[in-house]
Formats: sequence, C-alpha cells, structure tokens
Amino acid sequence: MAYEHTPVTVAGKRAVVIGGTSGIGRAIALGFAAEGADVIATSREEKRVAEVTREIREQGVETTEITCNVAERASVEALREEVLETLGGVDVLVNSFGGAARQSVLDVPEAEWKRVMNVQLSGVYRATQVFARAMAEQDRQDGSIVEIGSLSTSLSIPELAAYTTAKGGLEAFTRVAARDCAPTRVNAIRPGFTETPLTAETYAEGTHRHERIAERTAMGRLAQPEEIVGAAIYLASDAASYTTGECVTIDGGFAAGAFQE
Ligand SMILES: NC(=O)c1ccc[n+]([C@@H]2O[C@H](COP(=O)([O-])OP(=O)(O)OC[C@H]3O[C@@H](n4cnc5c(N)ncnc54)[C@H](OP(=O)(O)O)[C@@H]3O)[C@@H](O)[C@H]2O)c1
Repeated sequence: MAYEHTPVTVAGKRAVVIGGTSGIGRAIALGFAAEGADVIATSREEKRVAEVTREIREQGVETTEITCNVAERASVEALREEVLETLGGVDVLVNSFGGAARQSVLDVPEAEWKRVMNVQLSGVYRATQVFARAMAEQDRQDGSIVEIGSLSTSLSIPELAAYTTAKGGLEAFTRVAARDCAPTRVNAIRPGFTETPLTAETYAEGTHRHERIAERTAMGRLAQPEEIVGAAIYLASDAASYTTGECVTIDGGFAAGAFQE
C-alpha cells in the first residue's frame, strides 16, 4: 500500500463534546471548531452551554445549544437525537466531564462513591454506548470516540480514591470498547496536571503543590488545556485510522521525572 498524505485534521467532521463548556473539553470543542469541524459542546449548566456555543458559532461552523447530564441516560439519548438532527450525523464523541472531590479511603461515604462512579465511569459507558450505536448505524464507518482519563491512574494521589478508581475503569473500558465498537475507534487521553477551573484552587500558582509538580515535570510547568487539543485532533482524525484501544499520556514529562537526584 503506497502512503497517501492524510492530514491530521478534524475539518468536515461532526463532533460532540460532553463536558465541552469548561477546561479541557472547552479547549477541545473550540479547537475542533477552529479546525473546521461542526461541534456541539454540552454540559449540565445552561449558561455555560450558551457561552461556548456562541464562541463556536463565531468560527462559522454548525452547532446548537443543548444541555446534557451524563448521569441520566434519557439526557444522553436526547443529546444524540439533537446532534443527529442538527449535524445530520456524528463522527466524533469526546467525553471530558466530571470533577474530583477529595476524600480519604477511610472517610468517603457510599453515596459519594456512587455519585463519582455514576458520572466518571458509568457516564463514559452511557455516552460511549449511545453514540457508538449511532455511529454504527451510519453509512460512514470512520467514527472516533475520545475518552478523557487521567494520569492519576499510574500515580497514588492521596484522598482521590473514587476518582482514580473510576479513571482506571475508564482505561479498561476503552480497551474493551475498542473491540466491541470497531470499526468505530475508541481511545483515551490521560492528561497530567492541567490548569483548569477544576484544579484552579488545588494547584494554584504559588502553592506548594504547584511548585512540586512543576519541579518534577520535564517541561517545568503545568499544562494549559489547549495543549491537550492536539492529541484529541489526532485521535479523531483519519490519520489515526489504525489507532484504537490506546491511552495517550500528555503530561509534559511528569512521569519521566519520577527519578530525581
Ligand atoms: N485538569 C486536570 O488537571 C485534569 C487532569 C487529568 C484528567 N482530567 C480530566 O479531564 C476532564 C475535564 O476536566 P477539567 O479539568 O477540564 O474540568 P472542568 O474545567 O471542571 O470541566 C468539567 C466539565 O464537565 C462538565 N460536567 C460535570 N459533570 C457533568 C455531568 N454530570 N454531565 C455533563 N457534564 C458534566 C462541567 O460542566 P457542568 O458543571 O455545566 O456540567 C464542565 O464542562 C475530567 O474528566 C477530568 O477528570 C483533568
């Protein structure tokens, strides 16, 4: 087979980004729109959805305003209907939602454990299943799903058990989903420490944590959400036509900095 130039782009794709109104998801949604993809960015809060939708529209691509709560199947199914009606199909799903309440293994109550799992893990299962089925029913068989995992799965961050466990499950789910959903591709990105509203307080500049992380990271700093976008574009693009079941770490060399003299 002779190599044919395959651009790393999402131009012309129809994408939905759940958790696309803040941080990493917002950067991916706006990055996709800037590249020429039609994008619907959604989350629970109407105001946030309205704001990011306005920014996407400014790029001259197709979009619409709809809220979605991944904790509820009916909400995810309603999103699928709106996406199919507005964009005429769906080629890319990005799951970039949820937060991380910090609680020790000794203290985390059952209700909180279940809440985290229902969003961070079951939300990924729900959205992936609903949109992979929609992709399977289309003529085009080049769908791509990008899950946002976390570097935390290969670390031991204290008091982050429910979150880290859910993200570990996400990686296992990604590998199985890659088999079950093929030829739709399913991959994950594992961001390292990234400056978003989620981490604004915990890892704020000037804090002990911020300095320790920057010191250990090869790039000498935390990531900006826009620095995660390139990997999402690659995984969603036709250039990644044989990449599936993979977890791509984007951590600025944090893991590489484990050994310090
Ligand atoms: N920042 C980091 O350092 C870092 C590192 C590794 C992994 N990650 C992962 O990257 C993803 C994005 O994190 P981020 O830092 O960008 O956080 P963020 O700025 O807080 O954004 C989280 C997004 O998720 C949405 N969301 C929360 N619960 C939802 C639900 N039930 N249904 C639908 N949308 C929901 C939020 O909007 P609403 O509140 O309006 O719903 C928001 O748009 C998360 O999965 C996080 O675990 C982040």
